[in-house]
Amino acid sequence: MTIQNVTVLGSGTMGAGIAQTAIVAGFDTTLYDIEDGILDKAQAQIKKRIDRQVEKGRLDGLQAADALNRLATTSDLGDAVKVADYVIEAVPEKLELKREIFKRCEKSTPEHCVFGTNTSTLMISSIAAALSDKGRLIGIHFFNPVPVMRLIEVVMGPNSSNTSYVATLEIAQKMGKETVKVAESPGFTTSRINALIGNESFRMLEAGVASASDIDKALKLGLNHPMGPFEMVDLVGLDARLNNLRALYEALGDEAYRPSPMLERLVAAGRLGKKSGHGVYRYDDSGQRIAGSDDVNS
Ligand SMILES: NC(=O)c1ccc[n+]([C@@H]2O[C@H](COP(=O)([O-])OP(=O)(O)OC[C@H]3O[C@@H](n4cnc5c(N)ncnc54)[C@H](O)[C@@H]3O)[C@@H](O)[C@H]2O)c1
Repeated sequence: MTIQNVTVLGSGTMGAGIAQTAIVAGFDTTLYDIEDGILDKAQAQIKKRIDRQVEKGRLDGLQAADALNRLATTSDLGDAVKVADYVIEAVPEKLELKREIFKRCEKSTPEHCVFGTNTSTLMISSIAAALSDKGRLIGIHFFNPVPVMRLIEVVMGPNSSNTSYVATLEIAQKMGKETVKVAESPGFTTSRINALIGNESFRMLEAGVASASDIDKALKLGLNHPMGPFEMVDLVGLDARLNNLRALYEALGDEAYRPSPMLERLVAAGRLGKKSGHGVYRYDDSGQRIAGSDDVNS
């Protein structure tokens, strides 16, 4: 299949990043959300980021203008998907919402259209249960920030068809992304391992094995991780990590995923990471980490 028309559902953090990546890759892209005001903000943000690419010399003016011309927005779902070859869903992580939106898409899309979900935790089969053709649904799991991160996890439900798989590889390849093929399972590959490292780091911190900044330093310099586990959890949000661990613990039943009491306490205290100005580390108003702020009890 040659994919030309891509529709992205949801214009938040992930949807806007996916739409930006899609237009730069040459796809005619329609971005859908529930309100025009939300779409206006997403469109302005995409334009700003593309302009920055021009300033940095990564795109020339013509490429940027062409990319922006490929972007359409609408708050009418039927309109958004009527000529779509591939729909990428990035609406909030709620099973009923994802089921409902794909069910509605099924009524309006061309028959060949593939449905990709960017879910980070839900089973592809649970979402596909709502569809009459379950083979068209597949996981296309992007990473934040989408334009920068090189990986897509392609998540196969038990019914995901080979046509859906091949179409997803085509999208990834045109976007310049690498893929890994994963069978649906809690946390796929990346989140499952990352949550474990993050949880163990909090347990080590609580046990007084080393300071937060020394644990971060150890993983960066000793294991070549680009970021330390506490730097990362401050970036993704301690609340998001806690939710993820709770879901993995419930699904896998492995004690290693039981959220560390320290993580629970910090979230209860409103220390959510960079976004709240204080997580494991403290941040100033411009989002810069305050030096020497890694005493987690402070
Ligand atoms: N944020 C991440 O780092 C990340 C990474 C990988 C995957 N994901 C997954 O991507 C999905 C989206 O996450 P996000 O962080 O972009 O969320 P977000 O809250 O930033 O954006 C969600 C968007 O969906 C819109 N929306 C809400 N209800 C809708 C509906 N009924 N129809 C259409 N749009 C609707 C909202 O207005 C919002 O713009 C989730 O499934 C999440 O698990 C997130």
